[in-house]
Amino acid sequence: MEPLVHRLGYVALNVSDLEGAVEDAQLIAGASLVELTADRALLTSNARHAELIMHRADHSSLRAIGLETLDPAHVDEVARRAREAGLRIVSETPSLPVIEKSVTVAFPEGHVIEVHTPMPRDRPRRYAGPGIHPRYLDHANLTAADPAASAQLMMQVLGLKLSERTEGWELAWMRAGDGRHHTLGMAKSADGGGLHHYSWEFADFADFKRLGDVLDAQDRTLVWGPGRHGAGDNIFAYYVDAAGFLVENTAEMEIIADPHFQPRIVDPGENLSNFKVVNRWGQLPSREWMGHFNACAVLG
Ligand SMILES: [Fe+2]
Repeated sequence: MEPLVHRLGYVALNVSDLEGAVEDAQLIAGASLVELTADRALLTSNARHAELIMHRADHSSLRAIGLETLDPAHVDEVARRAREAGLRIVSETPSLPVIEKSVTVAFPEGHVIEVHTPMPRDRPRRYAGPGIHPRYLDHANLTAADPAASAQLMMQVLGLKLSERTEGWELAWMRAGDGRHHTLGMAKSADGGGLHHYSWEFADFADFKRLGDVLDAQDRTLVWGPGRHGAGDNIFAYYVDAAGFLVENTAEMEIIADPHFQPRIVDPGENLSNFKVVNRWGQLPSREWMGHFNACAVLG
């Protein structure tokens, strides 16, 4: 069966300095501001109404991940599977008025996922302004104390497919209907359920050079990369944004079209030392990258 979700819909973050976080996303990533109210900002990098959503809060945390489905009936199927698995349905009212239909589910380690009908394509495809101007927001890598259980439950409820995992499930990468090697990743963390990073898709390798230079102009640096991941075959570079989130920028991710694809099982090496899986160009991750963690927001 086709995955129930087609692609990443949005990433929603809680941030303590909303204006500062918005300015950072505009200046560095080059996202376009769609709407800024007293307590919420919507940003996008293309025609989609919102991709990066920021809420004013006491501290930075992962609020929710949106996954876009092409079929409204799949929203009902996700709700059915979530109830069957004993998960809490947080809401069946869409989080944004522009979304027609959705269900929001809380997973056991605190991840909140909204499966929703497509975000309207009501923004200009291109826009003026500073920063890199990525193509779209493409994936998020979550953390869990028990990544095998969390990943398997998400595959069961959301219909994601396993593309690749490490032998002990320390890392797992799951794809949606668009075939990208991963739309959601899962990594083992002693900190428990949270977000390791979210990722923009860049158009060109020249964008990575500009990213380094834009960060340098602000007396900031990349925390890892550029390099090429073995898992996903994607080019990457990471920085930490003003709100304290780890932001990946990626290009050329592997597309898996084969419906019968057998997941790869790989050995990451001790402390992610296997270059062939971690970074085929050789530089191993920084301590800052390895230890990065943002918690899930606590549901009211
Ligand atoms: Fe990533």
